[in-house]
Amino acid sequence: MIEGPRGTRREERQSLRKCVGAVFRPALMDEFPQLFHDDNLENCRVILDDGEIVSHVGLTQQWASIFGCTVGVGCIGGVGTYKEHRGKGYATRLFDDASAKCYSEGFDFMIVSGDRSLYRRAGCRKIGHDYDATITASHAQRLDTNVSIEACTETNIPTLSAIYRTEPVRFLRSPRMYKHAFQCNRFSGFWLVKKGDSVRGYVIASQGRETVRLAEYAGERSSILGAAAQLTKQYDCQNVGLHILGVDRLTQNILSEAGVELQPGHASGTVHIVNFPQLMDRMRPYFEEILGGSKTRRLEFTADDGAYQIRYDGDAVTIPDRGELAHLIFGTHEEMAAERLGCGGKVAEVMRQVLPIPALSYGINYV
Ligand SMILES: CC(C)(COP(=O)(O)OP(=O)(O)OC[C@H]1O[C@@H](n2cnc3c(N)ncnc32)[C@H](O)[C@@H]1OP(=O)(O)O)[C@@H](O)C(=O)NCCC(=O)NCCS
Repeated sequence: MIEGPRGTRREERQSLRKCVGAVFRPALMDEFPQLFHDDNLENCRVILDDGEIVSHVGLTQQWASIFGCTVGVGCIGGVGTYKEHRGKGYATRLFDDASAKCYSEGFDFMIVSGDRSLYRRAGCRKIGHDYDATITASHAQRLDTNVSIEACTETNIPTLSAIYRTEPVRFLRSPRMYKHAFQCNRFSGFWLVKKGDSVRGYVIASQGRETVRLAEYAGERSSILGAAAQLTKQYDCQNVGLHILGVDRLTQNILSEAGVELQPGHASGTVHIVNFPQLMDRMRPYFEEILGGSKTRRLEFTADDGAYQIRYDGDAVTIPDRGELAHLIFGTHEEMAAERLGCGGKVAEVMRQVLPIPALSYGINYV
């Protein structure tokens, strides 16, 4: 008998471990405690065949802040179906179920850790006008090297959290999210970046063979980038790799001045818009900062029958599907099917001033 989509029950943990362990690797459940902890099992959406879990789509739900506007974000990961059960539409059903769950529970969009037909058919797209960079040892000498790094433990969580909270585009995290990150063996180290006695920021490192990647960083940029020399020494690596948000002009400028090349890149994963009018309404305080109150109040956002509309003073732009919507809202380096806002009119004139909004970077929220 086929059951689901539904959440995982506590007594089914072992069946879930077996399924994601066979599809990915045996320790997967231990690598992502923020996804698989007991209180999140209802979000581990599954289909069962004769009582055994055969397909899984994992979801975490959290709030995030984009320029001070609070938005609801689902993160999708651990998507897998046993080989012998593939091609029956299980993962598709589970993905749609996770999206519907997010919609009914008041979330606005989902970030999916993958890009494949399964997700694209549901309207997921690569988004973001971000950059990736590699700091070599010689670049590192041209940065502010007058900094030190100091290993963090769980006792430093309040400090990490206080620094992260100063970022303009970030997740709203409970202390438990940091605790889970400390339990993950995906991260090689948590480091406070200091100048003399003063803590300037932190980096979370993930070690590769030649490159140590900054899985996350927050705080004062010159000092963080200056820590590159210390990090290469610490991990006996040639380079430090990092992702830079498109809105983070300061990091881009400091790197460019040191001769580091910025490669245009997308945000990690793909984005699926869950509730367009609600997302836009939640972003209104930011729109108001740019456009003023009167113009912002005249903007209307609607979703009808899979088509999306933005209206302003009797003028309208229609976005035909979720994929284009994701591109429009968050921007993209991908070729767009239509440059909706390039077509003129009052709506385009207004929306071009506020879109794209910045994409979130997972950091330790990655699943
Ligand atoms: C990816 C995976 C979860 C799909 O599971 P599944 O239960 O077979 O999924 P479905 O039956 O719903 O869909 C299977 C494929 O048919 C495609 N498909 C389903 N319905 C379709 C339709 N009506 N028209 C066209 N294509 C369709 C899906 O897009 C999907 O394509 P993809 O595998 O290239 O992405 C499974 O292949 C798997 O476990 N792979 C290994 C783990 C993995 O790679 N996970 C994803 C990490 S990003």
